[in-house]
Amino acid sequence: MNAATAISPPDARLAVRADFPGIGDWHYLDTAATAQKPQCVIDAIARGYGPDYATVHRGVYKRSADMTLAYEAARRRVAGFIGAASENEIVFVRGATEGINLVATAYAGEQLQAGDRILLSELEHHSNIVPWQMIAEKTGAQIDVIPLTDDHRIDLDAMAAMITPAHKLVALAHVSNVLGSVLDARRAADIAHSVGAKLLLDGCQAVPRLVVDVAALDCDFYVFSAHKLYGPTGFGVLWARPALLEAMPPYQGGGAMIDRVSFDKTTFAPPPGRFEAGTPHIVGAIGLHAAIDYVESVGLARIHAIETDLVRQTRAALSQINSVRLFGPDDSAGIVSFMIEGVHPHDIGTILDEEGVAIRAGHHCAQPLMAVLGVDATARASFGMYNDASDVEALVKGIERVTRIFG
Ligand SMILES: Cc1ncc(COP(=O)(O)O)c(C=O)c1O
Repeated sequence: MNAATAISPPDARLAVRADFPGIGDWHYLDTAATAQKPQCVIDAIARGYGPDYATVHRGVYKRSADMTLAYEAARRRVAGFIGAASENEIVFVRGATEGINLVATAYAGEQLQAGDRILLSELEHHSNIVPWQMIAEKTGAQIDVIPLTDDHRIDLDAMAAMITPAHKLVALAHVSNVLGSVLDARRAADIAHSVGAKLLLDGCQAVPRLVVDVAALDCDFYVFSAHKLYGPTGFGVLWARPALLEAMPPYQGGGAMIDRVSFDKTTFAPPPGRFEAGTPHIVGAIGLHAAIDYVESVGLARIHAIETDLVRQTRAALSQINSVRLFGPDDSAGIVSFMIEGVHPHDIGTILDEEGVAIRAGHHCAQPLMAVLGVDATARASFGMYNDASDVEALVKGIERVTRIFG
């Protein structure tokens, strides 16, 4: 049977494709790397750098005061979007990577000592491994790694069995960037808290796909990048419990993060300003605000429903091709990793590109996970709100061509 014929008709789509000037008739299946931008975000960024542009927090003139209001309004919007109690819990950073480095340095670097332990999982992105290794090296702490279940989720039973009071910090992906597996984050928080450990959630792949409520998740730190949420690059968010932020020293020194400076003694601004040294990425905040407005106008529940349906269609079609091996759970949130026996994922990506289908091929910044899966690399199709069954069809046709070419 031809796998392409197994795909159900495009019964469900969000009809937002026209809002994305970067898409056209391209089959863009690399949203887990970065999302395309809707016109309203591009317009907000153009206005921010055009007629609205001025610095924030310092100007005495009206344009600057207005820009400061817009910048701080973005912080309130983010707080509401992820269920934070106050905008003062929202630290603007360059992205998830910087958010994790900030917590590793200013929290773990201060709190951990030799004998303490950090708990990660086998499926983490390098951004949620390397900063902890660097801080472990400095503090003398040790890292333990939670294994995966047979269907490639973080094994929370194993986590419960291996965690001890020596574990001070647990850092886990809310949604895996390779496998799409969704963490039962509330259970992970309960397990972490049962020994007094703090839980950091890497929400990069979760915020574009799930309604996130940090209060309901009961985590202690949450990070994400704006560019995966249909917003600008170079911008992101760290949320932390207020008491933790209060106890953390500055991450970097410079302008804007101070209370008073003298050569005798410098005092620092309260959070979140304390963690935002220098002129910030003003227009990044404006763009993220517009992106959140747009995503919420479409509705995360609808986005999630469409993406899980596209995953189901993709997995059903690919599982009929003998040489294809699928990774991850069936209920993956918008991401399908796979390989074709005897074909390097880069060759798959190159041939699909000729068909107008963009996927990612490689280790996806998750080399330890590749080792667990027993491969060097995978091919990965990841969906966004603009995708529909025509993208799945093009992908499957392209893969059939790959299998024909490679015999
Ligand atoms: C799960 C996950 N964590 C962290 C990151 C790092 O994000 P950024 O490079 O935007 O800081 C990514 C990006 O691919 C990711 O998918």
